[in-house]
Amino acid sequence: MDTNVLRISNTVQWIGVLDKAIRTFDIIMETQYGTTYNSYFINADKKAVVEVVKEQFFQVFEAKLRQVCNPKELAYIFINHTEPDHSGGLKKLLEIAPFATVVASNSAIMNLKEQLNIPFPYIIAQDGYITDLGNKKIATISAPNLHWPDSIYSYLQEDKILFSCDSFGAHFCHESMYNDQVGNYDAAFLYYFDVILKPFSKFFLKAIDKISSLPIDAICTGHGPLLTSNPMEIVKKTKKMCEEYLNNYPKKNRILIAYVSAYGFTKKIAEKLKEGVEKIPNVTVDICDIEKMDFETLGEKIALADAYLLGTPTINQNMLPQLYYAFALMTPLREKGKLAAAFGAYGWSGEAKQCLITNIDNLKLNRYCDSMFIKFAPSQAEVDNIIKFGENFAKAAIISK
Ligand SMILES: Cc1cc2nc3c(=O)[nH]c(=O)nc-3n(C[C@H](O)[C@H](O)[C@H](O)COP(=O)(O)O)c2cc1C
Ligand SMILES: [Fe+2]
Ligand SMILES: [Fe+2]
Repeated sequence: MDTNVLRISNTVQWIGVLDKAIRTFDIIMETQYGTTYNSYFINADKKAVVEVVKEQFFQVFEAKLRQVCNPKELAYIFINHTEPDHSGGLKKLLEIAPFATVVASNSAIMNLKEQLNIPFPYIIAQDGYITDLGNKKIATISAPNLHWPDSIYSYLQEDKILFSCDSFGAHFCHESMYNDQVGNYDAAFLYYFDVILKPFSKFFLKAIDKISSLPIDAICTGHGPLLTSNPMEIVKKTKKMCEEYLNNYPKKNRILIAYVSAYGFTKKIAEKLKEGVEKIPNVTVDICDIEKMDFETLGEKIALADAYLLGTPTINQNMLPQLYYAFALMTPLREKGKLAAAFGAYGWSGEAKQCLITNIDNLKLNRYCDSMFIKFAPSQAEVDNIIKFGENFAKAAIISK
């Protein structure tokens, strides 16, 4: 069993666990480098733990905790975020730490009540709240929506250590743990940012702004390497990525035409839409038949596009499953307000139209005023209409941003 405990400062030790074997996280993320669930022990007059670990790793965590203290001595448990990869072990920790009070944000406490279903002592820590550990103090820094509404940072003032949970983290497992000893893990860091935090760039910039004036010797994240060497470089890099995402990337006017077609009629509509879209300058079109496309490729195309033309024939009073997949890969967090229109061929009842429209609305996309549905094959007059439709859609996509 892994029994490694690592020093971060005279007062702080890493007591987290390694999960080398994990290959998917939260169902949606590939974790080819494994991950770690980081937890920290603060050996102040009043002893504290920051973050717990995923429940199934509690035994390893408990053994490490017992190496550094008697859990009965714990006065505080800081929970910066209540996703169960961090809070899952809390119920068991409270059983062996009966005198500990949980410190967390208001929404985190609400979540924990529903997760634990037992009474527990807690303090709701607002922005600027100071927890007094006797010889040390911990300031709470409110940092909501990174990546849940509950998230906060905890800052150990005397040691200049920031506990940031998922922020600045990465799914990356390496026994050395210190960021200057694990080798290059940029790919894991960037992927983590892209999937977990990028959609929240606006909030991330606010949080970065709050911490940028603080002296920070180390950032103790919730996953992956311990940022003991040059932590502010990672903060700067993150800031740049958030700014790039918010400023540059939406200006590219990328329109994704994603469709499936059993007999080629919907395909024809798609191609004519493309012709129309291309009449507008400075617009990039990505047209693809998504019938056999894997989730990852489709997910990337969806994330990159600024507007969508989505097409399917009606088959058995429904749209085809590939369009359901496409919608499943969208999130209002990222896609809200992107212009979207529905199209497709049908034979008699045409139910796919309503299926597309309902999903466009549910996902809070900005539904274009019109849609393009054609009975079987488009006639020449209809082809002209489709081209015009594509052109108008592209104009609207530029204006809508
Ligand atoms: C198995 C099957 C089921 C169909 N079910 C419907 C239906 O419920 N309602 C409808 O309007 N059209 C239905 N159609 C007709 C198709 O929507 C129509 O042929 C359409 O033009 C096909 O477009 P595509 O060439 O892009 O596949 C069905 C077609 C097939 C092959
Ligand atoms: Fe999380
Ligand atoms: Fe996490």
